[in-house]
Amino acid sequence: MKAPGWFSRLSRRGIASNAVEREAWRRLDASIVRYRGEPVGTIASGDGDAPAQNYDHVFTRDFFVSAVAFLLRGEHEIVRNFLRVALDLQSADHHMDCFRPGQGMMPASFRVAGTGAEERLEPDFGEHAIARVTPIDSGFWWLYLLHAYTRASGDESLTKSDAMQRGIRLILELCLPPRHEMLPTLLVPDGAFMIDRRLGVYGHPLDIQVLFHLALRAADGLLDVPVDDPLRRAVAERESHLAHHLRHYYWLDMATLNRIYRYQVEELGADAANPFNIRPDTIPEWLFEWMPRDGGYFAGNLGPARLDVRLFSQGNLLAVLSGLADREQAQAILNLFESRREDLLGETPVKLVFPALEGRDWQLLTGGDPKNAPWSYHNGGNWPFLLWLFTAAAIRAGRREFAAEVLDAVEERLAAEQWAEYYDGRGGRLVGKEARLDQTWSVAGYLAARRMLANPDAIDFLGFGAPSTATSCDAGSRAPA
Ligand code: GLC
Repeated sequence: MKAPGWFSRLSRRGIASNAVEREAWRRLDASIVRYRGEPVGTIASGDGDAPAQNYDHVFTRDFFVSAVAFLLRGEHEIVRNFLRVALDLQSADHHMDCFRPGQGMMPASFRVAGTGAEERLEPDFGEHAIARVTPIDSGFWWLYLLHAYTRASGDESLTKSDAMQRGIRLILELCLPPRHEMLPTLLVPDGAFMIDRRLGVYGHPLDIQVLFHLALRAADGLLDVPVDDPLRRAVAERESHLAHHLRHYYWLDMATLNRIYRYQVEELGADAANPFNIRPDTIPEWLFEWMPRDGGYFAGNLGPARLDVRLFSQGNLLAVLSGLADREQAQAILNLFESRREDLLGETPVKLVFPALEGRDWQLLTGGDPKNAPWSYHNGGNWPFLLWLFTAAAIRAGRREFAAEVLDAVEERLAAEQWAEYYDGRGGRLVGKEARLDQTWSVAGYLAARRMLANPDAIDFLGFGAPSTATSCDAGSRAPA
């Protein structure tokens, strides 16, 4: 008897998909960095044909994605070791020397230098990076990873150790004290996170604020002190002010756009309806047409007379995953990704920022950066590593089928094009002009997404609710043989 057409299509895809997954696990395993014989992280890229620059380092933000894939495979050791090594490298002394990283900072990346008895870890806090950018996201990713590791492994002893508790406190003491502003958001320079170049992302960029919020939620559960401890109270209070601020002032949908369109300006006092003095004519016209009736998203940045309406996928999807976006907001974000699929996912998901800066905006805000030319790299390029986050957010919002369809459509090409770092063009059709191949977080992002689709309950360790009994990152289960 002949198998029905759909069956052979399905099984053909199944076989190809298994082969892609096997090959991806092989690459991820090959990217592992060892220190004194122990696995401690993964290199950013294994592309032997491109200049290494610092792509042979273990980046904190990149390793988070590898860690999600490893935890989903039931491997805890490399994640535990990474958390320990990063803690050892944390800047732990209080000093007034502006040329050394501030107390509590976590490195952007590190590498293993020397061999044998000479082997040592060399961190980079941005002092070696292009344009000396500061990695404000590192400490937040580290806290989120400690939370995820603890939930996935059930090992509370690591978090409870004095060294870890001190590390958590130092990060909090770096970001909680009041500074020169009276807002719950963090004021940061350009390029302080995944977008580590000038792109007009100074001030209060969404990605940092959402990560800050995530880190506070993680810290609240990780601090081994009673709920009425002053630090824990400060964490809870900031978390709730920050959540309110983001949900209220950053949110854009047809209703808020309509409100902004009719804003009065130059209002004084605490009751101002337009507290940041946003001029309605600074909202680009395309947005009024582009926003679906049932869609919405968090704006990219907010400050005095400044509302950056670019859509940053990482911040928005993290907000869905962490629960910062409330139920309606989470649905609206996923609706937007569905109805503006060509713009936000394109042929190679996921668009990092939409739309690109062009013309004079590009000149002024990037400093005329050719690497960040319109629709390239950070400036409107597409980044496959975000597939883990897109998938997790879609599952969290009850849209697993959508995420599965997106991953099925792209996986063979990702493998055939050798796990490029990023894609260029409006629709993400071209392998990025300067993209590395064999980029570890592209591989890990895909693997994590595959695992989550196979077992949607497994995303539980990335959340904050009561652990579900069904969960569990399937310990012991490996890539298909
Ligand atoms: C680039 C990216 C940065 C990433 C690093 C290593 O600098 O902008 O986000 O961490 O490469 O992959």
